Amino acid sequence: MLDNKNIIVGVTGGIAIYKTLDLISKLKKENANIEVIVTKAATEFITPLTFQTMSQNKVHFDMFGLVNEMEIEHISLAKKADVILVAPATANTLGKIANGIADNLLTTVIMATNKKVVFAPAMNTQMYKNPIVQNNIIKLKELGYEFINPGEGRLACGDEGTGKMAEPIQIIEYLKNLFTEKDLIGKKIIVTAGPTQEAIDPVRYITNRSSGKMGYAIAKEASRRGADVILIAGPTDLEVPDGVKFERIITTQEMLEKINLYFDDADVLVKAAAPSDYKPTHFSDKKIKKETGIDKLEIDFEKNPDIAAYFGARKKNNQLIVGFAAETDDLYENATKKIQSKNLDFIVANDVTMEGAGFEVDTNIVSIIYKDGTIENLPIMEKSELAKIIIDKIKNILE
Ligand SMILES: Cc1cc2nc3c(=O)[nH]c(=O)nc-3n(C[C@H](O)[C@H](O)[C@H](O)COP(=O)(O)O)c2cc1C
Repeated sequence: MLDNKNIIVGVTGGIAIYKTLDLISKLKKENANIEVIVTKAATEFITPLTFQTMSQNKVHFDMFGLVNEMEIEHISLAKKADVILVAPATANTLGKIANGIADNLLTTVIMATNKKVVFAPAMNTQMYKNPIVQNNIIKLKELGYEFINPGEGRLACGDEGTGKMAEPIQIIEYLKNLFTEKDLIGKKIIVTAGPTQEAIDPVRYITNRSSGKMGYAIAKEASRRGADVILIAGPTDLEVPDGVKFERIITTQEMLEKINLYFDDADVLVKAAAPSDYKPTHFSDKKIKKETGIDKLEIDFEKNPDIAAYFGARKKNNQLIVGFAAETDDLYENATKKIQSKNLDFIVANDVTMEGAGFEVDTNIVSIIYKDGTIENLPIMEKSELAKIIIDKIKNILE
């Protein structure tokens, strides 16, 4: 998504500058082409040599330097950029740009560009709250400049409050959103993710190894592409993607009820969760004790509702349901049966016994099986990559 994008990183003299090194390193791993422009104050904190090494490009700071005989550096940089990101953005630099001052290379490039400019401000809380700074931010927003808001916490100066520069992963996420084509605007997509838990007594439950990573990756990708996403997830410790409506559930029954709230209006249901097929027949409201002389504990289980089959039966012609099959044997046979019995549009099947596939890992190896029996085998890939492929397939069918 950031492959070969020309990102100009403007670096100003704030203490959060140390995070910018990590940001540049992460952007390089995303194959972005990075050109750094530093202000004089920034060079008091970190030398241009460090930025040059991290970005693997010449660092720009000289207003009056020539790129080659014919080009003027600020014009050339302003033209070349796909986006200009200022991180950290000081109160001083924000103030200058809001007031039309172009007295260094960074402010001049920003003045000379028609490309998107994104600021990640970072400063002491009182400085951030200062009405002059706030007015400058409002003015810049009105003019179309974008902001990645600072977070709250303990600041480098020891104060507590708002002013921490957004984390590099948040900034990268923001840039990825910026470069993603919004081809799912107006579509409502429900994504389920993670395991469910079925209680045995107040302290015990049965569950499964689902981590929720696949469902969360799909929700993130769909939202990034402009869909209206409702993520319904069992217990996981994953971060909810920005812009996604989130519903936490514990049991399979709760998952079914939550989907029910949204299903009629939805265009797509992606069932990436692993809801428990069975639940204990009786819930003991007191903790089951270890009895002396009894070596075996038997628990009876009863069937939970089959969520995929339930919604498959209710599905209207313009709705699409995507299922997942995590199998340990007879992968194709089991997955194909599921498509038919549950009225799915396609199923993403994986053999969870394979290394690099299934639960708890960041990668997956899947086959996509369609209604007509066509099978597409995909190589091992990151779940985020697979999410893109699944969303592409959904988009094609919706069209
Ligand atoms: C140790 C230190 C830390 C600073 N941290 C910040 C900061 O986090 N945010 C900020 O807006 N200014 C900060 N400043 C003040 C800026 O460096 C100062 O306003 C400078 O003029 C900014 O210039 P620039 O915007 O051209 O980089 C700091 C100054 C010092 C000495």
